[in-house]
Amino acid sequence: MKPPEYEYKGLVAEAWDVLRGDTSNWVDRHFYLKIIQTYGEPVLDVGCGTGRLLIDYLQQGIDIDGMDNSPEMLAICQHKAEKLRLKPTLYEQYLENLELPRRYRVILVPSSTLQLICEVKAIVKAMKRLYEHLLPNGILVASMMTLWKEGEPLYSEWEKTAFRETDGIKFRRVARSWFDPVSECERTEDLYQKIVHDNVIMEEFHQRSPATRSYSHSQARDLFAKAGFQNIRLFSGFTFDQVKPEDRLFTVIGHKLSSCER
Ligand SMILES: C[S@@+](CC[C@H](N)C(=O)[O-])C[C@H]1O[C@@H](n2cnc3c(N)ncnc32)[C@H](O)[C@@H]1O
Repeated sequence: MKPPEYEYKGLVAEAWDVLRGDTSNWVDRHFYLKIIQTYGEPVLDVGCGTGRLLIDYLQQGIDIDGMDNSPEMLAICQHKAEKLRLKPTLYEQYLENLELPRRYRVILVPSSTLQLICEVKAIVKAMKRLYEHLLPNGILVASMMTLWKEGEPLYSEWEKTAFRETDGIKFRRVARSWFDPVSECERTEDLYQKIVHDNVIMEEFHQRSPATRSYSHSQARDLFAKAGFQNIRLFSGFTFDQVKPEDRLFTVIGHKLSSCER
């Protein structure tokens, strides 16, 4: 099975950090840190991208590796890390075919990245690869989202612009998405522009269909169970409170029990 072409390329990668802005106080950062402090190291950051979490945790002395299928995102991560004199271990791989030399106590899949694998067979395979990469008693933690609920509009659009601090170049993203209740996936169209003094000096149009799969709480639980995870727990957003029925954003933790505990 050949995975689809990687998504985070060109202006998507170049604009990623600029459009996200200051992420230093995002709540998931504190949540995952607490998880690492509780369950231990080594840690793998899946879909580490430009290193939002990885670089912060490396700076704190945490033994953490990163993997991502986008060479562009990894190059930005490497560059940012080098500026801080950090030496991250980064792997360019597709999650569906994950094959790393180490096994981990904690594997993080932040920013709903699991949901970017839409094909059912592929996500089942990816979950098994994650399970394989855990040490006995290790845990997988992933943030997940319900993208659509009955009665809500199927179409949405939004726009964001931000300036890059280093050279003042403006980046603009116009995002449109259509949710299909039958496949439970959305397709997306994104226009990215680089703007200098009100002139568009570069633009790219990115389409993805399907782009993202939606998960209810029970579908997320089943996904983890199917891969062999046990003691599966769902939390409300990035808290340690039990998930509430109305929560669209939730985190899932699954344990790989040692063979004598199964
Ligand atoms: C939503 S971004 C999150 C980036 C980073 N974790 C953060 O929070 O800023 C998803 C990341 O996962 C990567 N990715 C998407 N699909 C992937 C796959 N099948 N295998 C490995 N990485 C993937 C993308 O290249 C991108 O860097």
